[in-house]
Amino acid sequence: MADQERLEVSEAEVAVHWQEEDYYYPPVEFIAQANMTDAGIYERFSLENFPECFKEYADLLDWYQYWHTTLDTSDAPCWKWFVGGKINACYNCVDRHLPRYRNKAALIFVPEPEEEPHVAITYQELYVRVNEVAALLRDFVGLKTGDRVTIHMPMVPELPIMMLACARLGVIHSVVFAGFSGQACGERIADSGSHILVTMDGYYRNGQLLDHKVKADEALKAAQELGQTVDKVLVWRRHRGQYASQAPMVEGRDYFMDDLLANYGGQRVEPVKMPAEAPLFLMYTSGTTGKPKAAQHSTGGYLSYVAGTSKYVQDIHPEDVYWCMADIGWITGHSYIVYGPLAIAATSVLYEGVPTYPDAGRPWRIAERLNVNIFHTAPTAIRMLRKVGPEEPKKYNYQFKHMTTVGEPIEPEVWKWYYEVVGKGKAVIVDTWWQTETGGFLCSTMPALHPMKPGSTGPGVPGIHPVIYDEEGNEIPAGSGKAGNICIRNPWPGAFQTIWGDRDRYVATYYAKYCKNKESKDWRDWPYLTGDAAMQAADGYYRILGRIDDVINVAGHRLGTKELESACLLVPEVAEASVVPRVDELRGRVPDVYISLKPGYAPSQEIKDAVVKSIEDTIGKIARPKNVYIVPDMPKTRSGKIMRRVLAALSNNQQDVGDVTTLVNPEVVEEIRQMVQGS
Ligand code: WT7
Repeated sequence: MADQERLEVSEAEVAVHWQEEDYYYPPVEFIAQANMTDAGIYERFSLENFPECFKEYADLLDWYQYWHTTLDTSDAPCWKWFVGGKINACYNCVDRHLPRYRNKAALIFVPEPEEEPHVAITYQELYVRVNEVAALLRDFVGLKTGDRVTIHMPMVPELPIMMLACARLGVIHSVVFAGFSGQACGERIADSGSHILVTMDGYYRNGQLLDHKVKADEALKAAQELGQTVDKVLVWRRHRGQYASQAPMVEGRDYFMDDLLANYGGQRVEPVKMPAEAPLFLMYTSGTTGKPKAAQHSTGGYLSYVAGTSKYVQDIHPEDVYWCMADIGWITGHSYIVYGPLAIAATSVLYEGVPTYPDAGRPWRIAERLNVNIFHTAPTAIRMLRKVGPEEPKKYNYQFKHMTTVGEPIEPEVWKWYYEVVGKGKAVIVDTWWQTETGGFLCSTMPALHPMKPGSTGPGVPGIHPVIYDEEGNEIPAGSGKAGNICIRNPWPGAFQTIWGDRDRYVATYYAKYCKNKESKDWRDWPYLTGDAAMQAADGYYRILGRIDDVINVAGHRLGTKELESACLLVPEVAEASVVPRVDELRGRVPDVYISLKPGYAPSQEIKDAVVKSIEDTIGKIARPKNVYIVPDMPKTRSGKIMRRVLAALSNNQQDVGDVTTLVNPEVVEEIRQMVQGS
């Protein structure tokens, strides 16, 4: 049980519990145009109709060859969907839309500098550019079906173009969030076995053109140390022909994409007919152990699931202008900026920079100018925009019909601002709960079918059947309002297939806890453990309380406390480190770091700074801790275990730190309290 062992303190334990809220109802104008107004969908997707019900989603796509087996469970719990089917994801997101939507915008790129014009890329243009890049990847780089490519790129159109070009060839892409450090990128290169890194010279963030290519050299060094050699580095340039990085180009290894592409003008590449269960991409995420793990997502199942949920939960129509403000470097961007929306011929907006640049009115100006009518973002962004510009949305003449939140629990108070001010009281909101591993939504209200309830996600989406278990594996009665570990009873097509290269960790982390018969080939014996605590109210809506493992959700991004602790230990003076979640007004949770020093060292600001720097270098700035406390000693049990629960209680201003009688050094708790909470 590698990933579940260190359960001493978890996000769920510091969760803020709020009151049950009243319902808000979807406006009739929304219902009148919605893609899904038939409550019968829940009947069609009931467990009696499982797994055949998911044909309804798969039929949203074009298949070269239909599947013979909807769900193959012979290698449980590695589920195979639509076996025998042949499909290409790029064809489904691009080529097949040409007859009807050739001249419609597929992507609209909004650069961060406001004076730089936005760029609309039509489906025809996307088709041309994806083909040229695919030709280059095949003929110059020599990539073949099944190879892995690491893409460390910011929010620019070249990123989805790159992903789609890979998908066209059946090459497995692994996109690493641009904010991750070179070191973190290198570890992912090595784990995925990529010989190719795709990067960019620089990009705009908060008014600055950041040097991004420097990270490529760090990444290659880190990968090399782990035994992985990268042969080629493909470098896009933010401004064609102008190089924005200080890092030298390495002869025979680094190539400018704009230069290379000059040789591929007008080239076309036949999409490769892929088996439905071939991997489409890898997406790294954090777990309990220090080593990041890659969720391996399939082609046919994944694409069916994100197409279905984009159509019915996001309610996207080809006529809409849809803007998901997430980053493509995370699963939200893969599923709900790129693959889902493009599979259903949407117009998807891509914004390069930060929402508050140059001021808190920026998102609403973008919405007004592009006539965005569906808006998708995370509670962190909503809290931030509310804090710095609570009245800003009122100044702009836009109107959303539909809005989404994702990634963390949203406080009812923040939800109400989103509804009343951002949505101007006329937009539907869905609070979608899901994970990197799940490919698409697990719980949400259906926008035209259910009332909204601030602070709660909703019931399982069609075809998802959640259940809450207690620690012993007893089902907590449905609708009882009691907290427990939320699991999903059944497989679904969007679910990841395994952890790349580590099936044992996959089984141990996600299935072992509640599986009663490890030999079973029946999916009913393998509930999927999400790693979240939740409760279900009498109306069937779930409320997610947070992670039950050593993962902290910071501003909607998942960080493993163990990864942060390992980074602290790289500082020579540090003897022990412990990282706990602290509730934060803006970012949901932030990491608080506690360290003790090796004998002979005195606490100093330099050591604290070195700890922060080490975290930034090994993971990235997103993991920057809120506080670093140098404690005389860690609170420990007699067996030498650090009581992180006590530290978490102190970080979260709790007076009661729980039972400390089992500690060898209970006196240290009071000392730490003084340090953290003052007198
Ligand atoms: C974890 C997954 C889902 C894509 C972005 C994050 C938390 C996610 C919600 C929500 C409350 C949520 C859970 C989950 N989470 N959505 N609507 N309400 N909590 O993906 O990085 O894999 O993180 O985010 O704790 O397990 P991720």
